[in-house]
Amino acid sequence: MKKINEKKFFKNSRILITGGTGSWGNELVKQLLKKFDPKEIRIYSRGEHKQVEMRRRFQDERIKYFIGDVRDKERLLLCSKGIDYIFHLAALKHVPVCEMNPWEAVSTNIIGTQNVIEAAIENKVKKVVDVSTDKAVDPFNLYGVTKACGEKIIIAGNNISKKTRFVCIRGGNVLGTNGSVIPLFKEQIEKLNEITITDEQMSRFLMRVEDAIKLVLHATTHSIGGEVFVMKMSACKIIDLAKVMIDRFGNDRTKIRNIGIRPGEKLYEVLVSRYEVPRAFDLGKYFVILPQIPISGLDERYNKYWRLQYQEFNSNNTMQLSRTEIEDLIENDGWFDNQIHKEAIEYLRNLSKDELKNFFKLEGWQK
Ligand SMILES: NC(=O)c1ccc[n+]([C@@H]2O[C@H](COP(=O)([O-])OP(=O)(O)OC[C@H]3O[C@@H](n4cnc5c(N)ncnc54)[C@H](OP(=O)(O)O)[C@@H]3O)[C@@H](O)[C@H]2O)c1
Repeated sequence: MKKINEKKFFKNSRILITGGTGSWGNELVKQLLKKFDPKEIRIYSRGEHKQVEMRRRFQDERIKYFIGDVRDKERLLLCSKGIDYIFHLAALKHVPVCEMNPWEAVSTNIIGTQNVIEAAIENKVKKVVDVSTDKAVDPFNLYGVTKACGEKIIIAGNNISKKTRFVCIRGGNVLGTNGSVIPLFKEQIEKLNEITITDEQMSRFLMRVEDAIKLVLHATTHSIGGEVFVMKMSACKIIDLAKVMIDRFGNDRTKIRNIGIRPGEKLYEVLVSRYEVPRAFDLGKYFVILPQIPISGLDERYNKYWRLQYQEFNSNNTMQLSRTEIEDLIENDGWFDNQIHKEAIEYLRNLSKDELKNFFKLEGWQK
């Protein structure tokens, strides 16, 4: 593979990030500004509040903020004029929310993605990077189904345009992102002295957002278009995560309450399915899955790599994090410190005991 100078890749380029105000978006902006010297980063999202907060946090004139919905193609067309690279992060991503509002999930995650593709092609964007999830593999809930459709239409975009290349990057759970379980566990222990878990056998991929974004950027610079890059991630049993949180914040009386699997949840997550294995290659930091449809250049590029040595790659057969490793990961990412992720946990901290119980019920966490 040709040696690529990652640092030069985005130098003086114009980048659009849909969903740029979210957990991945904030970290992506941080790393782009720190290491890659882009000319301009456009943030495209709906909520003004999150944009104002982000503007205050970064205080960088290279970042421009645009209110817009990915469902609105006209607005996307306008905001992607002159853009070199698009990172498509905007999504509805809470499993229960997508289940309860199926058409909203379809409109944002599928139609929104198609709008991004069309706007990119019309504006001759060089590359579009779609961030997908383990839940898109053998999908079982609507969030996963919509993200799987997103992957398919993104990859097929390569056959509509010669100029714009489309790539997909699939990751598992990122530590402490919006809606993740770590701040919730902490609050449960402090207010209710218990943790609710859905099943003792449940495992999940786990990674720091900082590392996830490094992989996103590496895959972006090294892809030719048409690949699904899969992050090689470690995983942990949720029960071990719960025990780490109890060791830190709980006491002898802290209970773990087993409430059974939630609607739409799997016991373990899969990042490369058994059906994808015949088309999957091992590139060291990643697996690359080639599409079922022909896209020129891909076979020649990847045929020299090792084939995947798993029947499928899932959160049970990947490297399992020990309790000490889980603890280090949480500690290093600042999740034991109330000050570091203040904004992410503030709304939970303000809830009373009853409100917190109710919150978990509404999220489908309590029977
Ligand atoms: N978090 C994880 O562990 C994880 C793992 C794998 C993959 N992913 C994927 O990574 C991406 C980013 O995840 P995240 O954790 O950063 O999510 P997040 O924190 O919930 O952020 C979502 C972003 O999308 C924006 N958004 C939502 N609907 C939109 C719409 N219709 N039009 C424009 N913007 C919209 C949100 O802002 P507004 O609401 O203000 O519009 C926000 O900026 C998602 O595609 C997700 O599927 C996440």
